[in-house]
Amino acid sequence: MRAVDLIRKKRDGLELSNEEIGFLVKGYSEGDIPDYQMSAWAMAVYYQGMSARETADLTLHMAASGDMVDLSSIHGIKVDKHSTGGVGDKATIVLGPLVAAAGVPVAKMSGRGLGHTGGTIDKLEAISGFSVELGKEQFFNQVNDIGLAVVGQSGNMTPADKKLYGLRDVTATVDSIPLIASSVMSKKIAAGADAIVLDVKTGSGAFMKTLDDSIRLASAMVDIGTQVGRSTVAVISDMDQPLGHAIGNALEIKEAVATLRGEGPSDLQEVCLILASHMLVLGGKAESETEARMILKEKLESGAALDKLMAMVAAQGGDIAQIKDLALLPQAEILVEVKSVSSGYIESIQAEEIGIAAMILGAGRENKNSVIDLAAGVDLRKKIGDSVTIGETLAVLHLNKEHESGQEEAVNRVREAYGISSEKVQRRPLVFALVT
Ligand code: URA
Repeated sequence: MRAVDLIRKKRDGLELSNEEIGFLVKGYSEGDIPDYQMSAWAMAVYYQGMSARETADLTLHMAASGDMVDLSSIHGIKVDKHSTGGVGDKATIVLGPLVAAAGVPVAKMSGRGLGHTGGTIDKLEAISGFSVELGKEQFFNQVNDIGLAVVGQSGNMTPADKKLYGLRDVTATVDSIPLIASSVMSKKIAAGADAIVLDVKTGSGAFMKTLDDSIRLASAMVDIGTQVGRSTVAVISDMDQPLGHAIGNALEIKEAVATLRGEGPSDLQEVCLILASHMLVLGGKAESETEARMILKEKLESGAALDKLMAMVAAQGGDIAQIKDLALLPQAEILVEVKSVSSGYIESIQAEEIGIAAMILGAGRENKNSVIDLAAGVDLRKKIGDSVTIGETLAVLHLNKEHESGQEEAVNRVREAYGISSEKVQRRPLVFALVT
């Protein structure tokens, strides 16, 4: 088999066999196929697409390129959740404990943040002592004991995807639906869950800016899950503004805990209840989403979900005093109010711009080696649909002295991220579609 023949075949719109896709993935991972040939193939895929079968084959070959986690020693149906990324998305920290409290084991591997999006692992590290690196046995035992563990991804998962993603990033081939779908699903499949709930974000802060593209991506991922025997559903949720009010690591932990106390923002609580309901149904703990929702609301109201978070924090070495008293979490030295320069109604909030402002203040990473400031971030005081008058606070920036030089740029970015209309504005739906 020769790579050039497979590139030509894809260029001409023909379907590659499982064996041919395996040849490309293995050859590229092992260095036998050079970057220039793999780039040409990725560009051919970008234009010609891939069939559902080809996409599933690519996913499985990439999943098998590194460690495949075997969760079979954990009792029960393991359900994973994945978000395609957004700004202020702390859903895992709320719904992990919520779902675990309802009896579905959550053995979650999460990522770190890069650029304008945050990562669950960084957020959890805002809690002093919290360890995101557990040995396999400890990870499995913890899930069997308390129903919940969240750790960083193992070093050698899906190396083929890592290499191909790096190549796509510099060859303008990231935004190909079959390539994104197989990249995301290869990681989920390698992580070992029996069932997967996908939160596909749509809007200004999302990978997919339009609803049509988001539905196409969700369908491609659900098709892969179905083809490889992992029940998968996708919820298309709004990322035309950040989720909740807090953006930044310690700020997001505070908001997640407030939500588990029943005192969080309604959008965050609602998205978590919707995603968690699907997890309960897939995990066999509820017959329908309506029944799941009743169970979950009871777990919130009784404090059982908050207790689960505390049990996880304690088991992973974190300081639960900081969960009981949120003022003990890292706090920024400087608070800066961003004031509105006009009156009206909030019409839009460019989530990506808010994420970049938070990054400039130190909450995110400009590159892989950046060190983040756990206390820094942005607290939004106005969301879409709210009224505002001149001089009123739109958002509060949290920063430490080391990032004071970025303050002016962050203030401008946050102010400009807000679109203000003189007409009354309808609140946006939180969820647009369900793909099964
Ligand atoms: N996230 C991924 O993991 N892979 C992609 O291709 C795009 C976003």
